[in-house]
Amino acid sequence: MTKQKKITAATLLRAKQQHKKTVWLTAYDATTAELAESAGAEVLLVGDSLGMACLGFDSTIPVTLTQMIHHTAAVVRGRTRAWVVCDLPFGSYQQSKEQAFASSVRVLQESGCDAVKIEGGVPMAETIAFLSERGIAVVAHIGLTPQSVKKFGSYGKRGTDKAGRAQLIQDARAVTEAGAVSLVLENIPFDLAGEITDSLEISTVGIGAGPDCDAQVLVWNDLLGISPSNPPFAPAYTKLRPLINDAISRWVDDVKSGQFPKKS
Ligand code: KIV
Repeated sequence: MTKQKKITAATLLRAKQQHKKTVWLTAYDATTAELAESAGAEVLLVGDSLGMACLGFDSTIPVTLTQMIHHTAAVVRGRTRAWVVCDLPFGSYQQSKEQAFASSVRVLQESGCDAVKIEGGVPMAETIAFLSERGIAVVAHIGLTPQSVKKFGSYGKRGTDKAGRAQLIQDARAVTEAGAVSLVLENIPFDLAGEITDSLEISTVGIGAGPDCDAQVLVWNDLLGISPSNPPFAPAYTKLRPLINDAISRWVDDVKSGQFPKKS
């Protein structure tokens, strides 16, 4: 069997140029990484959705850099060829470009991942340029940016009016010119995502942004039906939650009734 080549930032660019879709999926540990990659995911995003998916928080705000590094290192141990991206969590990069650089160095050195992701458009362009000029692969994230939920007050769609659309187009252009290698577009009108995708040299990654993005990403727990409820734009492809519940409760019943373990 021929060994498949490792995915890199250049692979994503080539895929865009060749009009080939790329598949991203969140992963949070070595098991989810191995399962996601063996099923065909090419990029593993250790999103700060970690906070809700695994750590029991009700938003991404409490997630720390140390937690992100701990989980990203596990994902790196579980991957073979996928490109691994780690979210810089809230408070670990917004203060200054120097803070963003120090956080990125920790993430790259301590986890072994390939890229960092930061939320924000025009206000983050200078930071992205600073990281990119120092050899760090940066994925930008605009549209619905969950780390700003306290400011916006909801996880609703962004870019729905004329000014919002113009701002997102400006954001997309600014992060691209700053050197971002890819751009996540979350929960924005489909036609706007298509317009942004067509206008950029780098690949766009959609979540709730329609079919015209170069890549798609979903959260592991949503795709597999583990989340108690999904955002409207994130369909569950199976329903693991009731299956898991059924397996555990049958085993509990067997232990309680003395049927597990068997005598021989
Ligand atoms: O944290 C995350 O999982 C993300 C994706 C939803 C893009 O940022």
